[in-house]
Amino acid sequence: LTQERYRVQRLPFSTVSKEDLAAFERIVPGRVVTDPEELEASNVDWLRTFRGCSKVLLRPRTTEEVSRILRHCHERNLAVNPQGGNTGMVGGSVPVFDEIILSTALMNQVISFQSVSGILVCQAGCILEELNRYLEEQDFIMPLDLGAKGSCHIGGNVATNAGGLRFLRYGSLRGTVLGLEVVLADGAVLNCLTSLRKDNTGYDLKQLFIGSEGTLGVITAVSILCPPKPEAVNVALFGCPGFAEVLKTFSTCKGMLGEILSAFEFMDAECMQLVRHHLHLASPVQESPFYVLVETSGSSAGHDADKLSGFLERVLGSGLVTEGSVAADQRKAKMLWALRERITEALSRDGYVYKYDISLPVERLYDIVTDLRARLGPSAKHVVGYGHLGDGNLHLNVIAEAFSASLLAALEPYVYEWTAGQQGSVSAEHGLGFKKKDVLGYSKPPAAVQVMQRLKALLDPKGILNPYKTLPTRA
Ligand code: FAD
Ligand code: MLT
Ligand code: ZN
Repeated sequence: LTQERYRVQRLPFSTVSKEDLAAFERIVPGRVVTDPEELEASNVDWLRTFRGCSKVLLRPRTTEEVSRILRHCHERNLAVNPQGGNTGMVGGSVPVFDEIILSTALMNQVISFQSVSGILVCQAGCILEELNRYLEEQDFIMPLDLGAKGSCHIGGNVATNAGGLRFLRYGSLRGTVLGLEVVLADGAVLNCLTSLRKDNTGYDLKQLFIGSEGTLGVITAVSILCPPKPEAVNVALFGCPGFAEVLKTFSTCKGMLGEILSAFEFMDAECMQLVRHHLHLASPVQESPFYVLVETSGSSAGHDADKLSGFLERVLGSGLVTEGSVAADQRKAKMLWALRERITEALSRDGYVYKYDISLPVERLYDIVTDLRARLGPSAKHVVGYGHLGDGNLHLNVIAEAFSASLLAALEPYVYEWTAGQQGSVSAEHGLGFKKKDVLGYSKPPAAVQVMQRLKALLDPKGILNPYKTLPTRA
């Protein structure tokens, strides 16, 4: 069996037998899904670019059940695809062939929350938005936020080391995740679910699993440090006449808003047009070459408002921004955020999307967009740039009516070579999954790739966990 389009051959794993199904039924009674219609949504990724043909999906509720499932799969040499909310952008969350889908959807319990330290411990299948809602009731928030919050699971966020919209303020999950419980490929439970801020006892094993995309173990529970809910949140959208002005606005923002700055996102005019056209969202800011969304989060409304008005005066007066709209209430703040958060959705409605998620020196962040527009000409419907400018993370997306091999050849390896030429990263936050596994070498030296392969062989000697993903096909 070969996935022709991706030139990948099925590895010699076993196929699920009647006896396997009976064993699964004993471990997770009534939670073994084999109905093809029910399986369909879990076999296809969010971007609808990849489709597997798994015939079994398992829905454990406990770590013990995950452990028994993996012990069985390990003994029988059955391949397993861990799946959270299936919102991943690189085809890591769906099977390539007939891997068993191990869903965390029913592992959705909060285990504990300490209201002085702000440390939350929960099962991996908790939905990000629900965790945030739970915390808000206790005057805390999650340290991460992303457009997929309504579906993605915290386990999936940790497995992809998701960045998102609050990264600028609260940093990486590599800092905020304090502990993990993970089930290894052979079913052994690795309990590193500590809730300590400081713990220098030997190697920090949880870091191996953060960003490992389901290839080293199944994350079953997460301990995470959550910040207090800010008293005052302001959101503003600005129009900028050029990218140089976007950069200067960012510098001014850091200088003048300092400790209260909590997001600095940008999008270009084509993004805004697509959001307006496909989602019928209205922008309060007139047509501009660029837009920036600025958010502040602080503890004193009056203090923040003063700072923000000083900043507005400066950027409007100096012509860095041509127009601005500040949200006066939560409803408008949500509306402004929607213009940015829903870009992904708007682009997907427009056609086939070639998606690149790269880290670059911020000064050069937009050059590749301009360069590609000239290079591709009319063969692309749109070439757009948006993303987490404050983190040096560009989302470069090229849209065409349908997939075309010649357009792909014009894009790759060009985009990756361009990125490597800037000492950038070919995956800033989405991971490598199935789509990008073979481009790891553009951002990591061969010795690093070899160590990764040795770690994989050590933790998953039979290679049953999320095969065909993250690591290059060949060393
Ligand atoms: P899935 O998609 O189900 O899985 C992703 C990967 O993690 C797969 O390789 C899977 O095998 C593995 N995995 C899942 N759960 C586990 C587990 N418990 N144990 C081990 N492995 C597991 N990403 C960003 O970084 N920043 C963004 O701003 C952002 N915005 C997004 C906006 C939209 C609209 C969408 C659709 C996606 C966005 N993403 C973003 C992509 C991002 O990777 C995911 O949304 C999210 O982190 C994945 O969580 P999930 O539960 O959906 O995982
Ligand atoms: C975003 O920032 O909107 C996400 O990472 C998704 C995307 O890149 O489209
Ligand atoms: Zn992003």
